[in-house]
Amino acid sequence: MPRMPSQVPFLELHSQVTPLRNELDAALARVVDSCRFILGDEVATFERDFAAYCEVDHAIGVSSGTDALTCILAALGIGPGDEVVLPANTFVATAESISAVGARPVFVDVDEESQQIDPRSVRAALGARTRVVIAVHLQGRTAPLAALLELTRERGIHLVEDACQAHGARYGGRRVGGFGVAAAFSFYPGKNLGAFGDAGAVTTNDASLARTLRQLRDHGQARKNEHRRWGFNARLDAIQAAVLGVKLPHLDGWNVARRRLAARYDALLAGTGLRTPPPPGDGEDHVYHLYVVRHPRRSSILQMLEENGIGYGLHYPVPIHRTPAYAGHGFELGALPRAERLAEENLSLPMYPELSDEHIERVCRVLTQTALVSG
Ligand SMILES: Cc1ncc(COP(=O)(O)O)c(C=O)c1O
Repeated sequence: MPRMPSQVPFLELHSQVTPLRNELDAALARVVDSCRFILGDEVATFERDFAAYCEVDHAIGVSSGTDALTCILAALGIGPGDEVVLPANTFVATAESISAVGARPVFVDVDEESQQIDPRSVRAALGARTRVVIAVHLQGRTAPLAALLELTRERGIHLVEDACQAHGARYGGRRVGGFGVAAAFSFYPGKNLGAFGDAGAVTTNDASLARTLRQLRDHGQARKNEHRRWGFNARLDAIQAAVLGVKLPHLDGWNVARRRLAARYDALLAGTGLRTPPPPGDGEDHVYHLYVVRHPRRSSILQMLEENGIGYGLHYPVPIHRTPAYAGHGFELGALPRAERLAEENLSLPMYPELSDEHIERVCRVLTQTALVSG
């Protein structure tokens, strides 16, 4: 049987790009006319604007969120023999950055309600070799920063934020990106702030770390042909910076739209068999990069969505410690039961700022038609 076209896409970028088309065209033309394609003024301007937006002293443009994390760990001198603690239910890139510098990822379990890294599990995992804890603001919800800061300060180790899914979120009134020693952002096209390809940034309030990061992203160069340390080719392209500069002023408005759409889903799915994301607690925030619901019999629901042309995502169907890439790291099935359960039950519904109320209603109508969900 031919596949029905997707009637409600999981993600749709045209509706964001189209209204900005003239500004974007002008920004791209500016870069083409300058023929300055790597770093330069476009990158410097975006770095300044993004740092101001995140309420931090420094932003360093890099080529992806993965490179942002890798550069942070390298700048902190993390390497072989060191351990870095991270939640098991994040995107694999968080773990890859640890492997890239030769350190050992130590996966920990998460809070089953918020789905964020669990500070008690972090405490249990800390050892003599632990140098860093990575707080991932998963799905756009803020991680429990107060508890993690207390823990890491107590132990004299670093807290790094993985804010790749949480651009613009606030914790205790302050933007994410300035809580730990440094934070990583991804501007992958589908993120809350997305470029026209791969791009990322590091934010920090530490001037000396910022200097090191600027060298690390550019072959360890302090200036042309002055290679102070081994580094990477992890620079931000001028074209991506120009695109991001056009989009940044819209980010808060887009996050407001995402919160409103999440509230609409919450209302329409209340009292059904689906577990909707709990609202953020006091001082916490959620910018709904993803709107994730749960059901113990997910596969029947996925089938129903597919039959009705509704897009969905699975973030993430296999917790990292159970992937073939990270098998053999000492985490057996059952080691991190909450992360493992969430991997089996989570299902991400369509979510992007321009999603219409009609589309949300259609998604919820299809969902509540199944006996499993109808509550
Ligand atoms: C939590 C998290 N960390 C890291 C990354 C890596 O970012 P990128 O895809 O830009 O390398 C992503 C993005 O996909 C992410 O969601």
